[in-house]
Amino acid sequence: MKCTLIVAMGEHREIGKDNDLLWRLPRDMKFFKETTQGHTVVMGRKNWESIPEKFRPLPNRKNIVLSRNKDYVANGAIVVSSLDEIEEHYYSNSNKKCFIIGGAEIYKLALEANLIDEMYITYVKSTFEADTYFPFVNWENWEEEDILDFEKDEKNPYSFTVKKYTR
Ligand SMILES: NC(=O)c1ccc[n+]([C@@H]2O[C@H](COP(=O)([O-])OP(=O)(O)OC[C@H]3O[C@@H](n4cnc5c(N)ncnc54)[C@H](OP(=O)(O)O)[C@@H]3O)[C@@H](O)[C@H]2O)c1
Repeated sequence: MKCTLIVAMGEHREIGKDNDLLWRLPRDMKFFKETTQGHTVVMGRKNWESIPEKFRPLPNRKNIVLSRNKDYVANGAIVVSSLDEIEEHYYSNSNKKCFIIGGAEIYKLALEANLIDEMYITYVKSTFEADTYFPFVNWENWEEEDILDFEKDEKNPYSFTVKKYTR
């Protein structure tokens, strides 16, 4: 089984602070929603808790939460305690994908387990004060493709680009 990673980061690979996101970018949220709709999303327990209760589970997606606590309850989601367990639960039809949606601990875990063969990375064109960072990636053998180039507007305070990586 292979999964697709999806992340948005600032210019210093920053992705979060105080268990929250660093920006509000509706256009990137739209991209995230359209890309992951209908598929399985896998997230760390902290990421799950960072989503306001009224927005979780993420609709029209099978939500899987990773926690070492086997008694952890995430209403509307499946809780697993290792990456290996994802395979039993995710929608495994040929056109269904498994998306690793963070946070940092889960990105690192999935990359080190060699689970990722595709990534969508949103590069937000600014720097932010942060306490959570996307892990370093060995870029050998990854091919890059431009997906979206967005200029900031009245609703989206930062410009960003989205790139797709495959290997
Ligand atoms: N910009 C973006 O694209 C993006 C995307 C997602 C999240 N974020 C941000 O990232 C931050 C959260 O990231 P984070 O790194 O602090 O936390 P996280 O990766 O969301 O969750 C960490 C938790 O996952 C569980 N976990 C970790 N390794 C595990 C393993 N080997 N087996 C089983 N469970 C395991 C543990 O849960 P237990 O403690 O319950 O055992 C751990 O506390 C927030 O600020 C969030 O807003 C940003």
